[in-house]
Amino acid sequence: MHPLQCVLQVQRSLGWGPLASVSWLTLRMCRAHSSLSSTMCPSPERQEDGARKDFSSRLAAGPTFQHFLKSASAPQEKLSSEVEDPPPYLTMDELLGRQRKVYLETYGCQMNVNDTEIAWSILQKSGYLRTSNLQEADVILLVTCSIREKAEQTIWNRLHQLKALKTRRPRSRVPLRIGILGCMAERLKEEILNREKMVDILAGPDAYRDLPRLLAVAESGQQAANVLLSLDETYADVMPVQTSASATSAFVSIMRGCDNMCSYCIVPFTRGRERSRPIASILEEVKKLSEQVLQLIHERDNICKQIHLPAQSGSSRVLEAMRRGYSREAYVELVHHIRESIPGVSLSSDFIAGFCGETEEDHVQTVSLLREVQYNMGFLFAYSMRQKTRAYHRLKDDVPEEVKLRRLEELITIFREEATKANQTSVGCTQLVLVEGLSKRSATDLCGRNDGNLKVIFPDAEMEDVNNPGLRVRAQPGDYVLVKITSASSQTLRGHVLCRTTLRDSSAYC
Ligand code: 5AD
Repeated sequence: MHPLQCVLQVQRSLGWGPLASVSWLTLRMCRAHSSLSSTMCPSPERQEDGARKDFSSRLAAGPTFQHFLKSASAPQEKLSSEVEDPPPYLTMDELLGRQRKVYLETYGCQMNVNDTEIAWSILQKSGYLRTSNLQEADVILLVTCSIREKAEQTIWNRLHQLKALKTRRPRSRVPLRIGILGCMAERLKEEILNREKMVDILAGPDAYRDLPRLLAVAESGQQAANVLLSLDETYADVMPVQTSASATSAFVSIMRGCDNMCSYCIVPFTRGRERSRPIASILEEVKKLSEQVLQLIHERDNICKQIHLPAQSGSSRVLEAMRRGYSREAYVELVHHIRESIPGVSLSSDFIAGFCGETEEDHVQTVSLLREVQYNMGFLFAYSMRQKTRAYHRLKDDVPEEVKLRRLEELITIFREEATKANQTSVGCTQLVLVEGLSKRSATDLCGRNDGNLKVIFPDAEMEDVNNPGLRVRAQPGDYVLVKITSASSQTLRGHVLCRTTLRDSSAYC
């Protein structure tokens, strides 16, 4: 059995590489528990004696019969990640979050980061809201670490601070509930509840599915705990929700628990037996994470809805010679997927005309790709052989210069026609434009970029500021303005400015 906890790190990026938006996967092996220093081997007698003592002390420190009775009231079967039927003593309404705001704080290792995401995923499905502001929280959950005493001391100190927050809370608000999740909940169990009466809920690492029920019980003013460890819980069906939506990397947990029993280590006791997550669920999570890049662009107003998707050629044969790692079909499929995921997305591309061995038929394929995709922006080049490249060594630069240039001209013409058509769909629309400064061509015009990163030119005129009615302003670089689009070419949009606004205020318009 491997003594390491494995966490897959998925780095997401749209920086190309050919087509993959998951640009690399690293198996990051992180020691969940201090060092892997060698285990001491005591003599057999000492071992037996030690084992007996160890067993007795573990028994004494372990769970009581009461514990199992208490635990027995918790749901034993796997719940699905959907909201479950309530137990007989709770109504469905009580089981739901009712828009209560949860503040989650994570201590310790990457597994705890992942646990936080799992706990949040479960609570979100139950109707809880997430807050990053401690003051507005209705529920505060600490995902804790027990690896060394200092880690636990940090939590005790934090609990004292939170106690003050709880006592100061105005009666007009719902009472603040505080929960301890993870390793420390598992290790100390009722000691926490007894020592810190203000702790309302306790959930061990295998009890996160039970959080909605625990919180519902706590709502009635009782303390609620589930520290039952499981032999098979991997949360395989719970898709973790990333703590930070802007994160560029994510941890994908592939196993839980540890059987290694290093003599210095608490982890087997706090996280239970080692179990692996089914491969299919790991793959599904990785796939979802890789797609979320797109998801983010769709959701966030402050990210341009523009993706640069360098195709280089429309011919699969040429793409293979270029060693791009995708076919025309795969590329077109990706374009469809992006357009479905981000309606209104603007696409740009790079193309090379006259690559080694490119035939007239290959060129026609590129023309047809330009027509099919209808890019908003394009960067087109004639192939120029570069020393040291693979093509230099292995392929023949056999397309005559005049043919390359003729093909390039054709591609430029087609690209312009299609881009003009695509951009003209904006005429008559009001678009949000981020002002960059004066137009290069005219001192009386301003230039900015719309949400698709297209250049928008408009006269530098006075306008109203939506946040200060009656105030007349001139747009400055960095301002957001609403522009009514009146004409479009293959490269730019033109229009007149309506008002100065903000990203938030403008979302209703675009
Ligand atoms: N010849 C022509 N165009 C090239 N590009 C890269 N190398 C060459 C070359 N040898 C183009 C590709 C790439 C863009 C940055 O430059 O289209 O995407």
